[in-house]
Amino acid sequence: MSNTRDGFQSRLGFVLASAGSAIGLGNIWGFPTQAANNGGGAFLFVYLVVTLLLALPALYAEIYLGNQTQKNPVSALTYACRDKMPKVGRYAGIIGLCGAIMMLSFYTIVAGWMLAHTLSPIFQFFGQTEAAQWLASSSTWRNIIFTPIFIILGAAIVHQGVHGGIEKWSSRLMPILLLMLFGLIGYILQQDGASEGLALYLIPDFSQITDPELIVSAMGQAFFSLSIGVGGMMVYGSYIEKGRDLGKLVTSIAALDTFIAFIAGLLIIPALFVAQHAGQEVFANNKLIGEGQLIFQILPTLFDSMGSIGLLIATAFFALLSIAALTSTISSTEVPVAFLIEEKKINRQKATLMVSAVVLVGSMTIVAFFDVLFGAVIRVLTTIMQPLMCLFYFIVVGWLWQRGNKLTDSSVLAQNKGLALLGNYLRFVCPVLLTIVFINVAF
Ligand code: PHE
Repeated sequence: MSNTRDGFQSRLGFVLASAGSAIGLGNIWGFPTQAANNGGGAFLFVYLVVTLLLALPALYAEIYLGNQTQKNPVSALTYACRDKMPKVGRYAGIIGLCGAIMMLSFYTIVAGWMLAHTLSPIFQFFGQTEAAQWLASSSTWRNIIFTPIFIILGAAIVHQGVHGGIEKWSSRLMPILLLMLFGLIGYILQQDGASEGLALYLIPDFSQITDPELIVSAMGQAFFSLSIGVGGMMVYGSYIEKGRDLGKLVTSIAALDTFIAFIAGLLIIPALFVAQHAGQEVFANNKLIGEGQLIFQILPTLFDSMGSIGLLIATAFFALLSIAALTSTISSTEVPVAFLIEEKKINRQKATLMVSAVVLVGSMTIVAFFDVLFGAVIRVLTTIMQPLMCLFYFIVVGWLWQRGNKLTDSSVLAQNKGLALLGNYLRFVCPVLLTIVFINVAF
């Protein structure tokens, strides 16, 4: 079986695909918004601390599980729990798989907004003002049209396979994303008002640092940003050769993700101050005026005020967000697709079609009951499912999984001090830290 399994052909391909999964709307929209709302540099500082202490080890545990077992997340967790509680492993795997579907159901809606906003300035440029305005304003019809388009874009990549689709497209899209991001930062930082934004972002207001809400938000943001807890990283980990030097690979993925979140802040926060400088209302009582307004109102108005270069900047900005969302979407799609291929012996094309159909039903249900479901699905996924799945990974890797697990094998650990330290950290410290933060979130 393992000989015929599709996979990444290079370590770089794996790192780019995983970084592509991690780098998404969470980095370019979520992180700067949270930072602007939570004391700028103070949020950045706490975010770095929780990433190092918890999110990075969780990412390691998830990728390690996939890599050691060389299986899709449901089979991987069943296998890892086979001695002590195989059923629990399997159910957890299926819950993770549902998490991936939930993620896709809301994420493809938001990604559809990005696509529509990418097209809007192009229509504007060709004098189609009405169409441009329709594309730039939220409506149920816009969701009904653009969400499926985005689902199809993701499916078109996934159905080409891991090497031929995911690796190839991640390797193409990630450098484009980086170039666009740097280009946009270079432009925005030259505008009047940008330096005020830089100061807010980079000089921490340490009075906010002990605020439990800030710590909890930073953790949720870190878990979402590193795509932990839905199996996407696990399935990618299973597509590289077993026993690769995971520590280095995992650290580079987390470093890339954190770096992009950081530099997205260098774009968005100064852009807000440029907009304020140009006469727009951006902050009220030190808080941003509505998170959605940031991307969809404040920045577009700013781009509008720049004349025709603004149209180009606007398209580039939203194309950047669309690309980031696309590479995140494909990792979550791969979770149920890999499960259907490996456990249900369905071919990749059919599996991708089936998963896309389920995601379409999920997303359209959210569109139909938007006010009730949209926020609720995001909250359940990010504040309950992702942290609990991470806790489960720590317990599996540190306690439940014995045979074939280097991290619980005393003869391996006796010879490798670094691994022993990591094993103990994952066993004892991570579950306790995570439980403390989780209790804070839930109550
Ligand atoms: N990490 C992605 C982002 O930052 C979102 C994501 C979450 C992707 C869970 C896959 C799985 O936007």
